[in-house]
Amino acid sequence: ETSASIVSSGNELKSLVVASSSDFHVLYGGIVPEIASRKQLELIIPVVDESLKKAKLKMSDISAIAVTEGPGLAGSLLIGVLTARNLALSFNKPLYAVNHVSAHIYANFITKSHDKSVKPLKNSPSFPFLGVIISGGHCQTVLFENHIKYKVIGRTLDDAIGEAFDKVAKILGLPYPGGPNISKCALNGKNIYDFPLAIVNRYDFSFSGLKTAVLRKAQSLIGKDYNFPSYKLAKALSEAQKANLAASFEATAIKSLIIQINNAAKDYQVNKIVLAGGVAANNKIRQTLLSLKDFEVYMPDINLCTDNAAFVASMAGYKIKNKISKSDPLTLDIKPNLKM
Ligand code: KG4
Ligand code: ZN
Repeated sequence: ETSASIVSSGNELKSLVVASSSDFHVLYGGIVPEIASRKQLELIIPVVDESLKKAKLKMSDISAIAVTEGPGLAGSLLIGVLTARNLALSFNKPLYAVNHVSAHIYANFITKSHDKSVKPLKNSPSFPFLGVIISGGHCQTVLFENHIKYKVIGRTLDDAIGEAFDKVAKILGLPYPGGPNISKCALNGKNIYDFPLAIVNRYDFSFSGLKTAVLRKAQSLIGKDYNFPSYKLAKALSEAQKANLAASFEATAIKSLIIQINNAAKDYQVNKIVLAGGVAANNKIRQTLLSLKDFEVYMPDINLCTDNAAFVASMAGYKIKNKISKSDPLTLDIKPNLKM
């Protein structure tokens, strides 16, 4: 995604523009980094212009520029960081760099929206809360004590949950992105396979074993051994088998998530859960979390779950309020492996 957004005071969304190169990635069954960054180079200035136009504002009305410094694909981060550095220098604005993973949480801090595509939350969560960040690159539970202080409680030791959705979709011959397509396919199936939970201890996740369990089950259903190339599997499976595999995978992934959320929230004595990340768009995850009686649950509008600049701008808004230091527009570098 290439996105620009204007946010006031960290919570008021003035405009949001998201351009996706997803159509190109569908052709290859996943994100091709070079295609992504080339598209981003073409789109970034028009997207920034469009965000100003939508908000009926000019660069002179803007008080600060925010950008994702990491983690992520180097080529994509580079386009964002260089554009933001140039804007900050050309228009003499302060520059704020944010961590993409923590920024996802700030989709829950948008409480006013002038953009019709986004329904804001009535209230933002108060601290402390357990942040649950589930995306294509991450799966972690984080105890947020305030805007500055947080502690990562559990994380995935291998694949992220969204990555597992995408890879299982590939095994089943469903198009990219896997998340929504697995859910759609699962609607016609039943949770009949006993897959292993994607958990390794009280807090951490491991989705690669679950993904392999789906592959092995698919192979055994069609009666082929492990040498049968997995790219040929989808054609050999019936629609009913695919739907049952998708439903069993989705149910197991969600069960694993809920167990670890419960463990973390109970042990750290928090009663608020704040969901974020692309996988937070999953309807069953949303419904399951809302049905938990012990917790107050926050989740952003589906349009703010997947990657967008509104949560980046929002987080920077709170950084400014908390007087967190600015970045130097002459030297800010990308951090592809940045951790929370
Ligand atoms: O947060 P995001 O847009 O990008 C990253 O920061 O990774 O998350 C993208 C991920 C993809 O893996 C996609 O399959 C998943 O979010 N996703 C979903 C749904 N919509 C998107 N996963 C499950 N159910 C969905 N409805
Ligand atoms: Zn993301």
